[in-house]
Amino acid sequence: MKTTINVHRVIGIRDRMLYGQFLEHFHRQIYGGVFDPGSPLANADGLREDVIEAVRKLNVPIMRWPGGCFVSSYHWLDGVGADREPTFDKTWRVEEPNTFGTDEYIKLCKAFGCEPYICTNAGTGTAEEMSDWVEYCNLAGKGRYAKMRAANGNAQPFNVKYWSIGNENWGSWEIGAKTREEWGHLVRESAKMIKHVDPTVELSAAALPDIDWNLNLLRNCGDYLDWISIHQYWDVIHETNNASKFNQVMAMTAGLDANIVKVRGLLEALGLQNTIRIAFDEWNLREWYHPKAVTVEQGITEDEYLTPRNGNDINSLYTMADAVFSASVLNMLHRNCDAVGMACFSPLVNTRGCIFTHPKGIVLRPTYFVFDLYANHLGDTVLDTWNDGDDMIAVEDTQGRSTMVPALDVLATTWADRHAIAIAVASRDKTNPHSLQLAVDDAWIGKTVTVYTLNGSSEESFNDIDHTEVGVVQHKLGEYKPGLSVRMEPHSVNIVEIA
Ligand code: AHR
Repeated sequence: MKTTINVHRVIGIRDRMLYGQFLEHFHRQIYGGVFDPGSPLANADGLREDVIEAVRKLNVPIMRWPGGCFVSSYHWLDGVGADREPTFDKTWRVEEPNTFGTDEYIKLCKAFGCEPYICTNAGTGTAEEMSDWVEYCNLAGKGRYAKMRAANGNAQPFNVKYWSIGNENWGSWEIGAKTREEWGHLVRESAKMIKHVDPTVELSAAALPDIDWNLNLLRNCGDYLDWISIHQYWDVIHETNNASKFNQVMAMTAGLDANIVKVRGLLEALGLQNTIRIAFDEWNLREWYHPKAVTVEQGITEDEYLTPRNGNDINSLYTMADAVFSASVLNMLHRNCDAVGMACFSPLVNTRGCIFTHPKGIVLRPTYFVFDLYANHLGDTVLDTWNDGDDMIAVEDTQGRSTMVPALDVLATTWADRHAIAIAVASRDKTNPHSLQLAVDDAWIGKTVTVYTLNGSSEESFNDIDHTEVGVVQHKLGEYKPGLSVRMEPHSVNIVEIA
């Protein structure tokens, strides 16, 4: 395939917040994940140092917390101060120790070097409880909650700039789910109170690609919101057909931006495209067991309910398929960077996250290296590309139907302040290599071409503790000359740099 790139054809400037992450009080993401005071690998604050080191390498810009569905029955006051006691987490039906709360989260964000992004309880919580949390985090000295923070050892405000009202409050699984009318009213009143406490914060609220819900939210609250949150998980089905995970998820890359296109269109129709940006603040493939409340009501036992969560942690589930798929999602987000200003991979650690914690150390799953490549090797300016003769491949979707997708998904970037081009290529063919012929201006002739390739020996390659199959290899291709062709290996993620 031939791709022509012109550095003057700019789609937009991507916000680094596209490389954001998410952590929820779910399974082993917090306890036994990032926070493990008993572990010899934890620092004096109980934070896993090996995780911190790995996250710092990714330059993670922002991390959403504490949920997720968890937050919809979470009361932040239970997680601050010296006298904390365990509570029952009504969402995930486990005991929440409350030893990791707001102060610990801020410490973790500082250790990671990222912005905090707090999601409030809009399920069982009130507008007042949400705004009290903002007081606790952001007020300098006035009032009960700023004084409480100081008494808890933090005299200086945390200055949390990003807040989200609620999680997926439109979903029947969510505790305290709302109707669209209730949602419009609650978000408006909460936003008003929060911005009375701290007018400088940026606020988001949960939307879904349902036009009535979104319309009602934006009509009621559009003047208070800076962001609109959408989540998307793509479900991998193992039992119902014989398609490999790799081909199933490659089939899902057709129409990845469908929800973003709908929300972007609505923002434009309402004239809000310059004031409200999209926060794609939970996304990933999903092959974990999602224990919905209804299954408990239907009489499954506690063990049947909890045990499958451990299945989410099996490292061999997370392969090069996840890496190539995630690169395709990131490419799509970059192409929509004029409307999407933030995204959070879900989650950062354990479950289906990009880092797995083990008593002996951490495992960097294939998706970790995708973030490493994108955050550390791509430019800030997204360029238009012209593809001549896309190589199409047939892949089977989750229903066993054959779908055609381009074998190579190409995203070109440059820098406002660096004379270089970096091209991300997700290679979606599980069997055959494809060549990418690059056509750039003659001014680039003689520049050095370097390729960073993330791959394993097969599309099912994965990493585990004491088992490393997947990683990045760097090789120099020599000088750029017109007609340069780069071989893209099957099931790989690549960055081609011309500098
Ligand atoms: O990550 C698990 C759940 O998936 C989150 O709590 C929720 O927001 C999403 O549906």
